[in-house]
Amino acid sequence: MQIFETLKKDHKKVLDLLEKMENSSQRASKSRHDNFLTLKKELLEHMHGEESTFYQFLLEHDDMKDLVYEALEEHRTVRLALPDVEAKDVTDEQWKPILSVIGEMIKHHINEEEKEIFKMCKNIIKREDDERLVSEFQSAKQEAQVSV
Ligand SMILES: [Fe+2]
Ligand SMILES: [Fe+2]
Repeated sequence: MQIFETLKKDHKKVLDLLEKMENSSQRASKSRHDNFLTLKKELLEHMHGEESTFYQFLLEHDDMKDLVYEALEEHRTVRLALPDVEAKDVTDEQWKPILSVIGEMIKHHINEEEKEIFKMCKNIIKREDDERLVSEFQSAKQEAQVSV
């Protein structure tokens, strides 16, 4: 399924950024700062893309509703947590622990999407839906126009 591959590519980008930041030292302030802004942009665009295309499509199917509403709630908590990381100076000793809490939320969410949602919806996405979802998802991400 092309839509799964498209979403997974974004997930990988996010996980790589998190790993880089989790392994960074307090002195690497410039790269911590830049990587965080990239992460924020990636996440906000990706979540907007999913919410306005992929999740909307899934919500038309009753048996997907619980999982999608749970995923939407997870998006909301990620959005709420981003400013907490941003408010902390990257050289502060609390920066990494705060980042790692949001990191755990993100990893949990990605895992649920890839392991549960994708598995459960693969039979309801027809070939033409798949192509349409990929192009709609990409345009929705661009429309989000997140500037950091
Ligand atoms: Fe996702
Ligand atoms: Fe998501």
